[in-house]
Amino acid sequence: MIKRPRRLRKNSIVRELVAETKISKDMFIYPYFVVEGVNIIHPIDAMPGIHHYSIDELIKDIDYGLNIGINKILLFGVGEKKTVDASSSYSIDSIVVKAIKAIKEKFADRIYLITDICVCAYTTHGHCGILKDDYVHNDSSVEVISKMALAHAQAGADMVAPSDMMDGRIAGIRELLDINGFENTAIMSYSIKYASAYYGPFREAANSAPQKGDRKSYQMDFRNMNESIAEGMLDEAEGADVLMVKPALAYLDVICNLRQNTLLPIACYNVSGEYSMVKAAVANGWLDEQKIVMENMYAFARAGANLIITYHTKDILEKGWI
Ligand code: PBG
Ligand code: ZN
Repeated sequence: MIKRPRRLRKNSIVRELVAETKISKDMFIYPYFVVEGVNIIHPIDAMPGIHHYSIDELIKDIDYGLNIGINKILLFGVGEKKTVDASSSYSIDSIVVKAIKAIKEKFADRIYLITDICVCAYTTHGHCGILKDDYVHNDSSVEVISKMALAHAQAGADMVAPSDMMDGRIAGIRELLDINGFENTAIMSYSIKYASAYYGPFREAANSAPQKGDRKSYQMDFRNMNESIAEGMLDEAEGADVLMVKPALAYLDVICNLRQNTLLPIACYNVSGEYSMVKAAVANGWLDEQKIVMENMYAFARAGANLIITYHTKDILEKGWI
């Protein structure tokens, strides 16, 4: 007698019954880029459907998103003042701080507001830390990054998400937040962030590409797996509330392996280049957008991601794909 696994694939009712992976709209986090000015909705070439918004337009778009179920957002500031010491990153006049205040004033706790913490958009050289003798100096970078996190927490961010990959920054941020009374501000660490060509469109969007050199002296080498666990464990020990793997699609094995090694929630970041690839193929009529996007989303969840940060969020919820 042959074994017949096809019995449980006979029709959609039984397939639903035995589906091992379920996803819900609660898992999705939508990234936003905010710029100075008014009345600005500026499309980003390589990321169809994604825009730069001035604060007034951002508020309108968030309002629209709330109606379709987007209530968790990840905010990036673009076009910030650039200095060698990145001091504008913790200024209360930064565009992102102003946006945090405006969002919280309008939506309060109806929006869970996460902010990206990194200085690459605030340095003249475009690196994710402070340079000393052409090398990104770790500990002075952590000091600035921690101040940036505090400025966002003070403005009203619910969660800060450091994406710089400096050593010890989770401990640094946690300590500074706590001594200032922000013990309830959560930290989602970009724990396992690989030096990746998939960030290309984002760097155009955020105007944050390094002027010279690359990010390989701080972001991880994509050939490494054991090191990803080490990074995750360090951040967990330093007090991270959520661990993130980034990029996502080419790193499902990393998500899966991390799942076996932590009890913390795991986020994955389905990054700009991954989004652009899908959108480009869809625009050419080579792939079915709904099918390909949802296959990718299920793959993240199947690998072990609990939270999915993706530019596809709006399409998914707007078009009722879940
Ligand atoms: C900044 C940052 C980057 C991304 C998120 N935060 C780019 C980088 O590290 O070069 C990438 C996001 C994306 O590609 O969608 N540190
Ligand atoms: Zn950076």
